Amino acid sequence: MKLLVTGGLGFIGSNFIRHMLSAHPDCQITNLDKQTYAGNPENLKEFKKNSHYTWVKADILDRKKVDACMSRVEAVVHFAAETHVDRSILDSGDFIRTNVLGTQVLLESAKASGVKRFVHVSTDEVYGSKETGDSREEDVLLPNSPYASSKAASDLLARSYFVTYGFPVIVTRSSNNFGPYQYPEKAIPLLITNALEDKSFPLYGDGLQVRDWLYVLDHAKALDTVLERGVPGEIYNIGGTRSCANVDLVKNILNLMNKSESLIQRIPDRPGHDRRYALNCDRLRALGWKPRASFEDALRQTIGWYKQNKPWWSKIKSGREYRTYYKKQYVREGRLAVRH
Ligand code: NAD
Ligand code: DAU
Repeated sequence: MKLLVTGGLGFIGSNFIRHMLSAHPDCQITNLDKQTYAGNPENLKEFKKNSHYTWVKADILDRKKVDACMSRVEAVVHFAAETHVDRSILDSGDFIRTNVLGTQVLLESAKASGVKRFVHVSTDEVYGSKETGDSREEDVLLPNSPYASSKAASDLLARSYFVTYGFPVIVTRSSNNFGPYQYPEKAIPLLITNALEDKSFPLYGDGLQVRDWLYVLDHAKALDTVLERGVPGEIYNIGGTRSCANVDLVKNILNLMNKSESLIQRIPDRPGHDRRYALNCDRLRALGWKPRASFEDALRQTIGWYKQNKPWWSKIKSGREYRTYYKKQYVREGRLAVRH
């Protein structure tokens, strides 16, 4: 299959590409990625000379470059996005440009070139906070952060291309991913890398917010399943194997790392912080997928990966972009700097 992946230098995209090239050796992948702060060519450095993989450095807003990539492919898996909720609270501009307008450019281009399948990678955050029960694909969307709202806009836009034009879009909504190559601004890699250096982890509010955790390779396999067997026009929730409160997750990880719970630094809550996400995944399970990784094993492997790949994350954490972001973040939160 000839596949266009957008955002393949990021966390999930790079894990997905690695999975596809190993599970489908005949697959030909073009990775269209602008290389923002979150896009890292090191994530896929072992494929630099692989004839089945090409990286095109481009913005998804650039219609000409998008068209040039699109003309060669049968299917698209669209990951490219601004993804960090805290950054969207500081400034939502890039979130609207990339997540909403960029998705519109891709949909138009893919429709014009007669792409056979367009998988739009969305998120459980579009449902908003789910105090009890679980979110189903038909539920009303009530996003609460600028990030989640920009994802909801692109998610609905993608669906509308199926309804209006019969263009074969499939939308997936996944829960919180964790695993190797995740940028150390997200909770799990921030906690692990800080703890490895005996630095504290800033825990928002009472820490009782609940997230559903999905190992990134299970997400990659779910997207592979949807590409092969998903029904055009359909939406699929993709959930993980462990739902838990942030404070319990943090204690669990510190415990596995033999680190003291005194590394937990309580800070004021994130504005608009969703209390709980939970997904019903019956529709995807009916296609034969289920998450395989045991949560504890996947967590141990993830901790091991960050231990063994210190140069990967130290380079990011000592970089100017990262330090500038955290300075702004401290000012917004009104707290004194934790050394990252
Ligand atoms: P990430 O932030 O690690 O990577 C995003 C990638 O997109 C980067 O490589 C970046 O360079 C690229 N990109 C950003 N703007 C671009 C643009 N204008 N043009 C081209 N490339 C651009 O993201 P991630 O965590 O891997 O998430 C990937 C997708 O999955 C996103 O759409 C996100 O909303 C969705 N998602 C993420 C999670 C999660 O837990 N991380 C859960 C559910 C859904
Ligand atoms: O649910 C899917 C979403 O998961 C994706 O769509 C997003 O792209 C991804 O970033 C993630 O969003 P969250 O906001 O849930 O993830 P994050 O890792 O930022 O935070 C997880 C939880 O931990 C959340 O309740 C906030 C809390 N947290 C996070 C950070 C970064 C803290 O308490 N302190 C922190 O420093």
